[in-house]
Amino acid sequence: MSELLNQVAVVTGAGRGIGRAIALELAGAGADVACVSRTAENAEKVAAEVRARGRRAWAHALDVADAAAVNAAAEAILAAAGRVDILVNNAGITRDGLLMRMSDADWDGVLATNLKGAFLFTRALSRAFLKQRSGCILNVASVIGLRGNAGQANYAASKAALIGFTKSVAREFASRGITVNALAPGFIETDMTGVLSAELRQTILGQIPLGRFGQPEDIARAARFLAGPGGRYITGQVLVVDGGMVM
Ligand code: NAI
Repeated sequence: MSELLNQVAVVTGAGRGIGRAIALELAGAGADVACVSRTAENAEKVAAEVRARGRRAWAHALDVADAAAVNAAAEAILAAAGRVDILVNNAGITRDGLLMRMSDADWDGVLATNLKGAFLFTRALSRAFLKQRSGCILNVASVIGLRGNAGQANYAASKAALIGFTKSVAREFASRGITVNALAPGFIETDMTGVLSAELRQTILGQIPLGRFGQPEDIARAARFLAGPGGRYITGQVLVVDGGMVM
């Protein structure tokens, strides 16, 4: 099925993990993909994987919290691709620590990437979306943004804020036929969660009714659904993809 045939997608944090899986899933559905990542090597690698699926791809290495870099990349993408149909704000980081000891840098860094990055990319592409009067924006939040987590006050705040951002932009863009939704993954096996101890992983596994950790493809398939015909009448929502962990 090529339900996204010739659509143009921009995916941030596409260099690995969930972002890479989303880029490849959207390409598999027929979309051309601009792969944005911090490191050029990873962005290029995933762009090559998109091309191997017969779609056009562009690689952009930048920090999503850098407004000038984001604006320049958005312009370059629009010039090269001619349009944009799907934006996936997926770039995200963790800098965990108990609140009492959390540094300013760890607070600011997480908010800058996870929240400001989404704002900057959405703003940079908003004129193109609004002019086109169609499109889909997906923000990758987290179940932690819904329920909080000890040791992740910065991360939880950034993801809860991203959900508020999602709902506000959904209301702003709805009259132009643009949908804006958030995905809230549970525990997904990527480099981000790979650093957690075996003990903590076992504890988390015990909280997942479906009895397994999620894979990046689980999130990618949900993204494809929301970006495709099935998501056309869905906006301002948070789709939790977590094996039943939060319900
Ligand atoms: P990851 O660490 O494997 O990949 C993150 C990607 O984002 C990398 O390609 C990295 O280069 C890029 N990135 C990070 N900061 C950036 C910046 N400032 N500018 C540009 N690119 C940047 O992480 P993973 O697990 O794939 O997570 C992706 C998203 O999913 C994040 O927003 C994360 O918070 C969210 N998420 C992940 C969960 C998990 O269990 N892995 C659970 C819930 C949410």
